[in-house]
Amino acid sequence: MTMNNFIFENSTKVFFGKGCVKEYLCCLTKAYGDTVMLCYGGGSIKKNGIYDEVTNILEAAGKTVVEFSGIMANPTYAKVLEGAKLAKKNDVSLLLGIGGGSVMDCCKAISIAARYDGDVWEDFWKRPGVFDFEPLPLGVIVTVAGTGSECNGGAVITNEELKIKTGRDYPQCNPKFALLDPTYTYSVPKKQMVSGGFDILSHIMEIYFSEPNEDNVSDDISEVLMRSAIRNLRAAIQNPQDYTARSNLMWAATMAENRVIKLGKRMDFECHQMEHQLGAYTNCNHGEGLAVLHPVYYRHIYKYGLPKFKRFATEVMGVSAEAKTDEEIALAGIEALEDFIVEIGLPVSLQDLGVNENTDLKEIADSCALMPGSYKKMTHEEILGIFKECY
Ligand code: NZQ
Ligand code: ZN
Repeated sequence: MTMNNFIFENSTKVFFGKGCVKEYLCCLTKAYGDTVMLCYGGGSIKKNGIYDEVTNILEAAGKTVVEFSGIMANPTYAKVLEGAKLAKKNDVSLLLGIGGGSVMDCCKAISIAARYDGDVWEDFWKRPGVFDFEPLPLGVIVTVAGTGSECNGGAVITNEELKIKTGRDYPQCNPKFALLDPTYTYSVPKKQMVSGGFDILSHIMEIYFSEPNEDNVSDDISEVLMRSAIRNLRAAIQNPQDYTARSNLMWAATMAENRVIKLGKRMDFECHQMEHQLGAYTNCNHGEGLAVLHPVYYRHIYKYGLPKFKRFATEVMGVSAEAKTDEEIALAGIEALEDFIVEIGLPVSLQDLGVNENTDLKEIADSCALMPGSYKKMTHEEILGIFKECY
């Protein structure tokens, strides 16, 4: 199979590097009216000084600041509606999200809901590909490397009532600007850093392990990115203030999700579907859930994509091919991935993840979307089997 046809555009302007917020934020906000809604999570930005830095800049720029805090991990649709109400009430002209994927995704969803009077769930979230609408402008300041949400229109929102965690990528929701200062990630706790680091790896693997298998630019870039993510995650664990490691992780996260390596590929993302529904039912951590699922899923499908799994083993995980059959090489690659997961302290079972034994895994499996781009299209029964194996 050859590369898929594609059209490429990415409208987010990225400012990268130490000091970029101080240097550019004031100037960037000038284009967007007087009232900025400052959106953030549980308060880490107040402890590490980012909040003070940003509010001082906004004050000096003469902005009226409306605060919207408490955006939780796995942001809920209810929180989106709360944010939209606040934005409408204050006639906000720019949303400024400071945080990780949860804050950025919630902001994107708010950016639609704040300019829409109908039922946002019905009219946007349930209808992939149908979007002709100009949302409220959004700018983001990234504080943890992982999702790559800063450079795409994707947002993943949990509808708690319906028990659905779903993602959509609308290009109009791309942030207008993204400020990426690697030093802002120094204070991320190790648990969250490795979770975000594995999410980066997962995004690349979900793209790499799909057709085409024949020579293509995406697979070549992906191998370099995966090796870089592994190397720099190890370095950042050794020294959380390693600027080079933090820079590489931050940029690898963006590169994995700015659509570049997706071009021409069919893409899998079945593991993401499984993790999202696990999250909808158990509120588990995204990167941790992926770490539990990936090795088990890959042992399930490797035979259907053997050449790529073999290539992954030798080119990414450093497995020696000597005296091994193709299958043995592929399996050694998956084992090396699992060893890396253990090495960096991520969970390897649903029990480690805190999933209760009374959890109805069948109901969760049945709620997972079945992705067409996988080397082997899953059935709900197979997903249930994978969940049980993960337990
Ligand atoms: O809430 P605060 O107090 O700020 O603490 C956060 C949060 O507890 C903390 N944190 C962030 N930056 C920090 C920091 N702590 C100290 N110092 C800092 N500099 O980190 C914790 C987790 O943050 P969160 O935003 O939840 O993590 P992540 O970036 O992994 O985002 C996860 C969400 O993004 C979705 C996931 O499903 C999940 O809902 N995804 C979004 C994607 C997208 N839009 O493209 C793609 C992904 O596949 C993913 O599904
Ligand atoms: Zn992810």
